[in-house]
Formats: sequence, C-alpha cells, structure tokens
Amino acid sequence: MAELAETLALATRLAREAGAIQRERYETELSIGTKSAPVDLVTEVDRRCEDHIVETLLRERPADSILAEEGSNHDTPGAEWRWVIDPLDGTVNYAHGYPRFCVSIGVEQHGQRSVGVVYDPLLDELYQATAGGGAFRNGNVIRTTEEPELGRGLFATGFAYDVHSAKQDNLDHFARFVKNARAVRRDGSAALDLCYVASGRLDGYWELKLHPWDVAAGALIVEEAGGRMSDLRGSPLPSDGSSVLASNGPLHDAMLRLLAG
Ligand code: IPD
Ligand code: CA
Ligand code: CA
Repeated sequence: MAELAETLALATRLAREAGAIQRERYETELSIGTKSAPVDLVTEVDRRCEDHIVETLLRERPADSILAEEGSNHDTPGAEWRWVIDPLDGTVNYAHGYPRFCVSIGVEQHGQRSVGVVYDPLLDELYQATAGGGAFRNGNVIRTTEEPELGRGLFATGFAYDVHSAKQDNLDHFARFVKNARAVRRDGSAALDLCYVASGRLDGYWELKLHPWDVAAGALIVEEAGGRMSDLRGSPLPSDGSSVLASNGPLHDAMLRLLAG
C-alpha cells in the first residue's frame, strides 16, 4: 500500500513538473517537427517533458519499465511496475497556442492499471486515481454524470493523424452523434477528454486509433469515477488504445448502438 501511495506521489510530482515546463513555454517560439504525417507534430516541449520524466524515473525507479510516446522506453524484464507516459497530450493545440493540453502518466502494477495522473497546467487541474481508491480533481472526489438520455448528453471524440487518407476515419460516427446528441466536441486532448467524462463535464467520449499512453491514466480515472470503459463494440478496453469508448455508465449501451449504426 505504501508503495502505491509513493508511486502516486511520484507520478503527481512528475506531472506537475512537466506541466510547469509546458506553462513556461506556452505561446513562445517553438521548434516543431512532424512524425507519421504532416499533421502529426512534435515540439521541443514534448521532448523536454519526456526527458525530464524519464530521466527522473531512471534515477528514482531503476527497476521499473517505461513506455513513453517520444521513444525513450526501457523494458526491464519481470518489472513489477510499468510507467506509460504521454509527456504532452494535445501537441497540435500546444503548437497553435490553443489552451487545451496536459501531461498524462499511467502506472501499471503486475500489468494492471493502478495509478493515473493527468495534469492541465493552464487550468492548474490535477486529476488522480488509484485502483480501488476513487478519482479526484485537485483533491476533491469526482463522479461521472447520471444522464440516461443521449439527446441530453454532451460528447467528445477525436480523429487520428491518418484522417486525410484513411477509410476508417470516424466521420460516420461523428455525424451520427451530431444528429442524435445535444452536442459533440473535438478538443484535441484524449487524456483530458477522458478526465472530463470522469468529472461530469462530458457524458461520453469515443475515439479510434489512439495509443497506450493516451488512455493509460484516463481510463483508470474514468472507472474510478464510476464510469464505464470498453472498445467501440462493447468488448473490454484494449490496452493499446486502438478502440476507446468511455461513458458515464447509463449511456454506454446507447452509445454502442449509435456507433454500430
Ligand atoms: C492526440 C490527442 C488528440 C487525439 C489524437 C492523439 P498527441 O495525442 O490526444 O486529441 O485525437 O488521436 O494522438 O499526439 O497530442 O499526444
Ligand atoms: Ca496523446
Ligand atoms: Ca503526446
């Protein structure tokens, strides 16, 4: 138990420290490169945040495994703990000065999601969860909504970086939600979208083709806030993030039906 509390404390410290880097460099001139597609960006701040988090973990938790988006991974065979890190979720927003981005750190113990921390440095909002220990924003308990009506729900989604060319582009799902829900948002940070479901700002969220680091923290935060996670067909959430549905619970089946078409 003490080890779980220590892990939560370290994840929290690292998320706040990386968030401070993001706040400091926000709306300053950045060096920006591209990855899988011309719209898939990486900035010097993504890398600086990842370096800070990973270097600290290598010093303070040398026995643990690390999976981090920008590639500084460490695989320790048989490790009890694995850190799954998105050093800056919402890079396109960050590069444009659009104020919606965060740090996301999930930690698994023996392969089970056990700690989730997401930090929004501009709003100074810290989301935390531990398995079985509930979910919190800035220390206050958060819960998903109880909304049962799709037509009264506010939802969010996102589009993968291959949206310009891919056949599976999520636009069919998006159109159905626009026609059936109260409103739909696309705000550009999957980890914050999940935290908004957890804290009742959204009633549900779905996305395809995410990655483990996008959902490692947020999925636990949703579940610990009383929400439900699955893939887009209702099967258990795949840990690779390839198909992600988060809901308040009461709306889960209606969302699944709408996604099925
Ligand atoms: C992206 C954001 C975005 C989602 C993309 C993700 P990144 O992560 O979470 O909301 O729609 O699919 O890849 O690249 O900013 O870390
Ligand atoms: Ca991300
Ligand atoms: Ca990222």
